[in-house]
Amino acid sequence: MVSLKNRDIISIRDFTKEEILYILDLSKEMESQRHPDLLKGKVLASLFFEPSTRTRMSFESAMKLMGGEVISFAEPGVTSIVKGESLRDAVKIIEGYSSAIVIRHFLEGAPRLAADAVDIPVINAGDGANQHPTQTFLDLYTVQKTKGTLEGLTVGFLGDLKYGRTVHSLAYALAHFNCSMNFISPPTLRMPTDHLEELKERGARYSEYNSLEEISDKLDVLYCTRIQQERFADPVEFEKVKGTYRLNKAVLEGLKIKKDLKILHPLPRVDEMDESLDATPYAVYFQQAHSGIPVRESLLASILGVMG
Ligand code: CP
Repeated sequence: MVSLKNRDIISIRDFTKEEILYILDLSKEMESQRHPDLLKGKVLASLFFEPSTRTRMSFESAMKLMGGEVISFAEPGVTSIVKGESLRDAVKIIEGYSSAIVIRHFLEGAPRLAADAVDIPVINAGDGANQHPTQTFLDLYTVQKTKGTLEGLTVGFLGDLKYGRTVHSLAYALAHFNCSMNFISPPTLRMPTDHLEELKERGARYSEYNSLEEISDKLDVLYCTRIQQERFADPVEFEKVKGTYRLNKAVLEGLKIKKDLKILHPLPRVDEMDESLDATPYAVYFQQAHSGIPVRESLLASILGVMG
């Protein structure tokens, strides 16, 4: 019997395969039926120290759709952190105003620090280039829904694999499902060695490539990512890789691909994936973003102890 009551969601590595599948099953149920009073009386503190559209709005919407409330600040500059208050003190105070905290922070490890400081559940909504575990749950949900399974798929990850936190989290999750992982990036944006070593320890199968052409015909799923300009310490380095991969309908039609290939992207996109792909049967990234509601509903309901 799986119970995620009071659990923090900091890294996907903290979840077993059974727990992941439990959340995916619950998300299906959440999608099929509304639960307007499930979180009545519960309050989510929404602390975003970096920009967000999808994660923040889908968490806040999920909370409200289940009858809960959300508190947040308009932007980090209006909190007392600018007066020198530590993040630890801030979350210890916010703990007294809320039932759970969702936090996005530019510092890797900040959500773990927050979770260690408080007794209510803390959700990592993205910490620097490290992890984005709730995105992974909705990525898995989308793959399972569109491919019919998570087991044994051949998955390509394209773009910025160095700074792409969604890639890091998803790769760990797919290691539970005997997937073949294919990391396609410029040499300077490869998957970090520490992640590769840990993936190997977890028994993951992976290969690295410079170009999509080398592996496109084998892929069941292609997970595209934006080159994360904001994470480059040196703008010259960004200029060297800017626009490396530009996927559009014509480029895709020129490649050998499987007919039932599905293309995911955590979004936002910039220039790496053209709108001409949107109407093709391959594109599932809008569906992926919209599944943020049932998936985050099931995560909130589980950690707040009203489901499971
Ligand atoms: N995928 C994702 O994290 O999007 P946002 O940055 O808009 O939240």
